[in-house]
Amino acid sequence: MNRTLKWAVAGLIAVVPFALSAQAGNNTYVGAKKCKMCHHLEYTSWQTTTHAKATDVAKASTQRKFGPECLKCHATNADANMPGVQCEACHGAGSAYKKFPIMKDLAKAKANGLIIPTQETCNQCHTGKGHSKKVEFKTAINNKSAIHKFKHPLGK
Ligand code: HEC
Ligand code: HEC
Ligand code: HEC
Ligand code: HEC
Repeated sequence: MNRTLKWAVAGLIAVVPFALSAQAGNNTYVGAKKCKMCHHLEYTSWQTTTHAKATDVAKASTQRKFGPECLKCHATNADANMPGVQCEACHGAGSAYKKFPIMKDLAKAKANGLIIPTQETCNQCHTGKGHSKKVEFKTAINNKSAIHKFKHPLGK
């Protein structure tokens, strides 16, 4: 084994367990009410968005027949018990990051599954196929009927 390869292998071994823990694959969805306690502004403004009402809108559709396959985009985690596109559909499942000592430290929160949304986050549902139109993150982020109000100015 040459020197470079040896280091590459050592690097892989060191990186794999970290990647597994950072991925936080076992996190569960806790629901928007759990976030409300500390993020009242985001919660109350999110409630007025179309995202919050997405399950009801799909159920009321006259053009398409409602079924479980709609929930993939019209609910959180495709779960009928998690109606609407809730916080965790954009910010990741919260069971591991929602506690204060973790939340107050952005790096720790991310390591425990917090997602700061990007274009890819939106693309999961805004696929550009069928009636699901693409959205451009940069412009849509300021759409108050879609995204909640922000406590901190963006890009701080
Ligand atoms: C116990 C209180 C608490 C709970 C519960 C909580 N958070 Fe937080 N969160 C905080 C604090 C404190 C910060 C640090 C920034 C700040 O002061 O707002 C934060 C920051 C954040 C950030 C911004 C990270 C950044 O710096 O850009 C997001 C996004 C977030 N929380 C989402 C959520 C979501 C989604 C939930 C529910 C699953 C949740 N939080 C539950 C206290 C909490
Ligand atoms: C791949 C994700 C995805 C799936 C699956 C999906 N939708 Fe949608 N739906 C969207 C998105 C994204 C929008 C918002 C489109 C826009 O206005 O930009 C939307 C909007 C809607 C609307 C309001 C606007 C309109 O076009 O009438 C209704 C009603 C609707 N969907 C019903 C349904 C029903 C019923 C199902 C299941 C048969 C379904 N959707 C499945 C992503 C999806
Ligand atoms: C879990 C799926 C899902 C995710 C993730 C998601 N959306 Fe949506 N979005 C929807 C659905 C479904 C609708 C249609 C809701 C309705 O019409 O009631 C919608 C509607 C919208 C609308 C139209 C609302 C209006 O009335 O103006 C915008 C804009 C939008 N989303 C932006 C975004 C952005 C930006 C992101 C990423 C930060 C995002 N969405 C992430 C499913 C999703
Ligand atoms: C449709 C996607 C979407 C949903 C649903 C959503 N957010 Fe956000 N959130 C965003 C985006 C986009 C940002 C800005 C990220 C950035 O800074 O670039 C953000 C930023 C935040 C921040 C940091 C900025 C601030 O206001 O201090 C907090 C905290 C937050 N969200 C909490 C929540 C909570 C709590 C909920 C549910 C009540 C929620 N979000 C639902 C997309 C979403």
